[in-house]
Amino acid sequence: MSDKAILELHGQKHEFPIIKGTEDEIGIDIKSLRSITGGAITIDPGFKNTGACESGITFLDGEKGILRYRGYSIEELAEKADFLEVAFLLIYGELPTKEELDKFHSDIKSYAVVDDDIKKILDAFPKSAHPMGVLSSLTSALTAFNPSSVDVSSPDAMYNSIVKIMGKFPVLVAWTMRKKHGLPLDYGDSSLGYVENVIKMMFKKPHEEYVNNPIFVNALDKLLILHGDHEQNCSTSTVRIVGSSHAGLFASLSAGISALWGPLHGGANQAVLEMLKGIQADGGDTKKYMAKAKDKNDPFRLMGFGHRVYKNFDPRAKIIKAAADEVLADLGIEDPILEIAKGLEQEALKDEYFVKRKLYPNVDFYSGVIYRAMGIPSDMFTVMFALGRLPGWIAQWVEMRLRKEPIGRPRQIYIGENYRPFKTLEERG
Ligand code: SDX
Repeated sequence: MSDKAILELHGQKHEFPIIKGTEDEIGIDIKSLRSITGGAITIDPGFKNTGACESGITFLDGEKGILRYRGYSIEELAEKADFLEVAFLLIYGELPTKEELDKFHSDIKSYAVVDDDIKKILDAFPKSAHPMGVLSSLTSALTAFNPSSVDVSSPDAMYNSIVKIMGKFPVLVAWTMRKKHGLPLDYGDSSLGYVENVIKMMFKKPHEEYVNNPIFVNALDKLLILHGDHEQNCSTSTVRIVGSSHAGLFASLSAGISALWGPLHGGANQAVLEMLKGIQADGGDTKKYMAKAKDKNDPFRLMGFGHRVYKNFDPRAKIIKAAADEVLADLGIEDPILEIAKGLEQEALKDEYFVKRKLYPNVDFYSGVIYRAMGIPSDMFTVMFALGRLPGWIAQWVEMRLRKEPIGRPRQIYIGENYRPFKTLEERG
C-alpha cells in the first residue's frame, strides 16, 4: 500500500504523507497543504473526517464496537478493575502496582478539601441552577484558590495539579447536589475508597449514621469506568483546545464540563430519562415516539440513540444494560422505565430507519436507570458523567501538553461581503 496520498488541484498533483497508527488506522498528513497549494484548506463541519491529533490513550473501532483504554478492553476493565486504577491507567499509561495505587489515592486524599470560600460562590447560585453550570463554575473557580495549578512545567507540578483536581472534584460534585437539595455541605471519610466516599459525600444525611450500600458502590464504580475516556469526543476536544493555549488544567476542565452539558453529548443521559418518563406518562406508546423520531418535521430525537463513531452497539451500553438489570434485581426494584427503554431498543433494532442509519443505544441510553435506582436526581446525571470522564480529560490534556501540541486554531472559508467602503449615516438612507 502506498505511503502517500496524491491530491490534484488546478491540474497540479501534490503528495501528502500517510500516517499509520498501531491499529492500522491511516491519516493523510496535510500539515503542508496550505503552503504547497498556495492557500487551499479542507472543510469538514463537525470534524467527521478530521483527526485533531495522534493519541495513545483510547482506541475505538466504531464498526466492531471496540473500546480500549491503553490497550485494555472496556469489558475487562469494567469487570476486573476499580475506577481509581482505571484513572491511573488512563493518565499514566499503565495499570498501577499496589504501591503506586496506594500513593495515588493517598495523595488524592491529601487534597480532598476545598477552600471554604468556595461555599460563598455556591451560595450565590439559585437552587434552580442546573448542576452542570454550577460544577463548571466551581471547577474554574478552583484556579483562584490553587493558582500554582496553572504551572505544569515540571513533572512534580503536573502531578500536583492532577491529584488536586482528582481530590477536589468529587467534593464539588457532592456539594453541587447537596446545596440544591438544601443539605449541609460536608466532607466524607478519607478512610473510605474513592467511589465509596463520593457516595457518602453525596448522600449522607446530617442526622443519620451513613451505611454504604455495596450495590451502589459497585454500580457507580463500573459506571465511572465506562465513562472514563472516549478519544476525541466533543468535550475532550474542548479540554484539549482550551489547554492548547496553555490555560490551566482546571480552566480547561471547566470548559469540557460546559461542552458535556449539551443534550447531544453528555446531557443526553438526563434527556433519555425525561424522554422515557414522558413516554410512560403518555401511556407507554413507544411506537408513537419511534414515529416522531423518524419524522423530519418533528424535532424529537430518540435520545440515547446514535453515535458519531459507533455504527454498531456501543460496548458501554451493553455493559450498562446488563448492570441495570443486576442493580434493579439486587435492590428488588421493578422500574417500568427500564422496560420502556428495552421496548424502544427492540423496536429500533427492527426498524429500517434506525437500521439503515446504524443507530444503536449509546452510553447514555441505560445509565440513567441505574442513577435513578441509586436515588441520584436526573439533573445530576451529567455531573456523574463528568465525574467518570475526569481522568480521561486529564489524560488527554496531559498528553497534549507533553507532546507540545500547537495552539488549536482552525481556518475557515469566508462567505461574507467583499470589500465595501464605509457609508456615513447620511449615505445609509
Ligand atoms: C455521547 O463522541 C463521543 O464519543 C460522545 C460520547 C462520549 O463518551 O464522549 O460517546 C458520549 O455524547 C453519546 C451521544 C449522546 N447523544 C444522544 O444520545 C443524542 C441523540 N443522538 C443524536 O443527536 C446523534 O446520534 C449524535 C449527536 C449522537 C450523533 O450525531 P451525528 O454523528 O452528527 O449524526 P447525524 O446527526 O448526522 O445523524 C445521521 C442521521 C440523520 O438522519 P438523515 O439526515 O441521514 O436522514 O441519523 C439521524 C439523523 O437525523 N439520527 C437520529 C438520531 N441520531 C441520528 N434520528 C433519530 N434519533 C436519533 N437519536
